[in-house]
Parts: sequence; C-alpha cells; structure tokens
Amino acid sequence: MSSFLHQRPIQNPFSNAYPVSPRSSSTSQRPISIFSPTGLIILLSLMVILGVFVPWSGMPVATFSNSKKASSSLSKWRDYTLAEAASFVAKNATLIVCAVSQPYLPFLNNWLISITRQKHQEKVLVIAEDYATLYKVNEKWPGHAVLVPPAIDSQTAHKFGSQGFFNFTSRRPQHLLKILELGYNVMYNDVDMVWLRDPFPYLEGNHDVYFTDDMAAVKALNHSHDLPPPGKKGRTYICSCMIFLRPKDGAKLVMKKWIEELQAQPWSKAKKANDQPAFNWALNKTAGLVDLYLLPQAAFPTGGLYFKNQTWVQQTKGMHVIIHNNYIIGFEKKIKRFQDYGLWLVDDHALDSPLGRL
Ligand SMILES: *[C@@H]1O[C@H](CO)[C@@H](O)[C@H](O)[C@H]1NC(C)=O
Ligand SMILES: *[C@@H]1O[C@H](CO)[C@@H](O)[C@H](O)[C@H]1NC(C)=O
Ligand SMILES: *[C@@H]1O[C@H](CO)[C@@H](O)[C@H](O)[C@H]1NC(C)=O
Ligand SMILES: *[C@@H]1O[C@H](CO)[C@@H](O)[C@H](O)[C@H]1NC(C)=O
Ligand SMILES: *[C@@H]1O[C@H](CO)[C@@H](O)[C@H](O)[C@H]1NC(C)=O
Repeated sequence: MSSFLHQRPIQNPFSNAYPVSPRSSSTSQRPISIFSPTGLIILLSLMVILGVFVPWSGMPVATFSNSKKASSSLSKWRDYTLAEAASFVAKNATLIVCAVSQPYLPFLNNWLISITRQKHQEKVLVIAEDYATLYKVNEKWPGHAVLVPPAIDSQTAHKFGSQGFFNFTSRRPQHLLKILELGYNVMYNDVDMVWLRDPFPYLEGNHDVYFTDDMAAVKALNHSHDLPPPGKKGRTYICSCMIFLRPKDGAKLVMKKWIEELQAQPWSKAKKANDQPAFNWALNKTAGLVDLYLLPQAAFPTGGLYFKNQTWVQQTKGMHVIIHNNYIIGFEKKIKRFQDYGLWLVDDHALDSPLGRL
C-alpha cells in the first residue's frame, strides 16, 4: 500500500488557483472617515460610552470591530499571549484548538459552523500561523485567535513540504503542551473535519490521551480501546488530526515525546514528512506509562473509510460523530468531496459561523 495513504495528506494550497475567499469582507465594510462630521460624532459617542461604561479591565475584546478604528486596535492582538487567550476562551477548563494559515480559512469556517451546531464554538481557540489569520479571526470574533511567534512567513508557506514548513507545523505539540501546562483539557482538530454530533460524550473515563485510528480497515463495533498493534512500518497509524488531552502527566509526557521524535526524525526530502509518524512513535514509546484511549471507529472514521465504503457508511448510519476529509490530495478536491457529501457548509450556512461570511 502506498505510504501516503497512512499519513495525513496535507497539501499545498498554493498549488491551486483556488481563491481563498471569493467574497472578501473588505468590500462589504463601508469605512466612515473619522474626519467627517458623522465620523466625529460616532467617535465622540464611542469615547463617552467607553469612558463611562467600560472601565479598562484588560478584557481581550475588540470593541470596534466594524469600524475603521478596528485596524489600529487590531495590532494589539500581536501581544495577546496563549495564556491570555486560553483563559479568555476556555469553558469548563476545556479548549478546542486548531492551527491554521490563511489559505485554510474556508475550511476553518466550515469546521466552525459544524461545531456551532453542537454548541461548542465558545471553546474554540484558533492558533493562527500568520498575522492575516490572527487579525481576520479576531476582527470577526474578538479574542478567539492567538499567534505564538514567530509567524510563518509567506516565503516559507509557499514552500509546502519544505523543511521550513515542516519545522513550522511541528510546533503543534509544543502549543498543546503549553495549554496542558496551563491546566486545560484540550481537543485538537485539523480543520478539514466536520462535526456531525457532539464528540464530548465519547471522551469516556479519565484517560490521559484520546485519539482515532487512521486505518481504513473495518473493525468490529466493539473493538478494543487500547492502542492498536503496529502496522507494516512497525508503528501504528493513529491520526494526529483529532486528539483530546487531559492536563495530566501522561498527556504531557506524550507531547514531550512527540516533540523529541520530531527532532530525532527530522524532515527529509525523500520522506516529505508530516507530524503524524512522530506522534505514533511517541505513543509507541510511552505506551506503558500513559493511559491511552482509542475512540470508536464508527464514530470517528478516517476519510479512507467514510468516503470510500458506502456499505460501511450504511451499516453504521447514525453513529458518525466527526468526519475527516483525508485520504485525498488537493485543496479543490477536498472542497469538491465535501460538497458532494453535503458537508461543505460555508456557501449556505456562513451566517451560522461566529466568523460570518469570510
Ligand atoms: C465539565 O468537565 C467535566 C470533566 O471534564 C465533565 O464531566 C462535565 O460534563 C463538563 N461540564 C460541562 C457543563 O460541560
Ligand atoms: C528546521 O529545524 C532544523 C532542526 O531544528 C534546523 O536545523 C533547520 O535549520 C530548520 N530549517 C528551517 C528552514 O527552518
Ligand atoms: C466483541 O464481540 C464479539 C462477539 O459478540 C466477542 O467475541 C468479542 O470478544 C468482543 N470483543 C471485544 C473487544 O469486546
Ligand atoms: C512499539 O514498536 C515496536 C517496533 O515496531 C513494536 O515491536 C512494539 O510492539 C510497539 N509497542 C507498542 C506498545 O505498540
Ligand atoms: C466495506 O464495508 C463492509 C461492511 O462493513 C466490509 O464488509 C468490507 O470489507 C468493506 N470493504 C473494504 C474494501 O474494506
């Protein structure tokens, strides 16, 4: 079997001419000049309201996200730290995080719409990989995006599959470790996912690390929740796309090991590495020390199963919780597949997203 099937196929969004955001919001906003009489009155009113009703409390809320003033207040998000963001966004000591760069904004919005339908959007923290994403998300949804410097530069971003890009994505376990050290439960998702149901009831028990299998082979409905046996490459094919961690020593140990494995098996031209093999080696090496929990396949199927075996989809109807649009290469192909399956929500349901139409 070809190796890429078991890896998380991420691909270069820049290789396609797909417009990132067909309806740029900048055209829909009518700037009011602060030098016009109307602008001055608005500005004065705002200052009065601010001075009287909003004592400066250090709350990370952009008050004027729809006005011209937004551009100057946007720059404050540069100094917004992960600790501040986590404390602002977390509910019940729990965060849902993703890490995205600008080309993935349509996928981010699609994912967010599906999460909003399950009423968990308030816990979502977007780890922005570039300043455009940081500003865009916080402009529309103040406080819900943070950038952990350094930002990816467009030069690096264009060289997808390059060492720079690999170095960049390999910071994910570091972000997750930091969040655990701050004391939060954290769910990480890739944004090419769609929630059909609420995943939280499936996080049974008090295990350290919860994850899903990326293998497409059909399992019994009552399959074990243990780490599966290693596959052909001597390691498992657990997906690094959806992980839930409790802020316990075991989860921190796996993140530390994952960081170590990424450093020990650095990027190479031949392998076109992503962060998934290192995650699997981390699980392999910490297996005896950490309380691991494999989530049910019927609820969290790999795209290699969900999009490729209609018989199985029928048999497990009503059981699916999160769908992952993987086992396919190409930005446009992913969108097309979501559309074909009625899972591309951004065209008709953008207003359900806390970001609105992007
Ligand atoms: C809060 O978290 C605890 C433990 O993680 C969980 O059992 C409980 O259901 C959560 N409560 C809400 C309201 O989500
Ligand atoms: C990527 O990280 C490796 C190891 O930390 C380092 O040697 C290399 O210079 C980095 N490459 C880029 C392009 O950032
Ligand atoms: C699943 O169910 C089958 C048949 O009912 C049983 O033989 C098997 O031991 C069960 N497997 C697990 C892991 O519980
Ligand atoms: C870890 O990997 C080794 C080498 O492939 C394998 O022999 C061992 O069974 C794995 N351990 C676990 C717990 O999966
Ligand atoms: C598709 O799913 C059916 C039903 O679960 C299963 O019997 C069959 O082996 C699967 N086909 C493939 C190619 O995995």
